[in-house]
Amino acid sequence: MSRVDWESLRHAAVDVMHRAYAPYSKFPVGAAGLVDDGRVVTGCNVENAAYGVVLCAECGVISQLHATGGGRLVALSCVDASGEPILPCGRCRQLMWENGGPRMLVDSKEGPLPMETLLPNGFGPADIEAITGGI
Ligand code: THU
Repeated sequence: MSRVDWESLRHAAVDVMHRAYAPYSKFPVGAAGLVDDGRVVTGCNVENAAYGVVLCAECGVISQLHATGGGRLVALSCVDASGEPILPCGRCRQLMWENGGPRMLVDSKEGPLPMETLLPNGFGPADIEAITGGI
């Protein structure tokens, strides 16, 4: 897949952001991921009265990726309430590394950034495979 339609990806992220459940932080987030087969998978943050068990918007994206057939993420847009790009937290970067790899692109205010910039020298499936011989 050569070209990413960042405008429609961001539109999908804004759309799902409106369904976020964020009564505690009041910081709704929406995320939309482009899959290597052209699908767009989305997610919003879902908070909890036990604050620490919050589900980030990107977690929803990864869940929908697998629930709708799998594949690899090639690009992701994540937005705040004003529709501006936000960069994924550390835990979500790890989830995206597993499902998109170093070349996956993530939208930012300065333009798309590759995962290898957001998570340099990330730990991933290859590190397991190198020792165990398989995943
Ligand atoms: N949040 C996300 O959904 N994704 C991120 O990458 C950063 C943070 C959510 C978690 C919490 O519900 C709210 O934003 C404030 O941290």
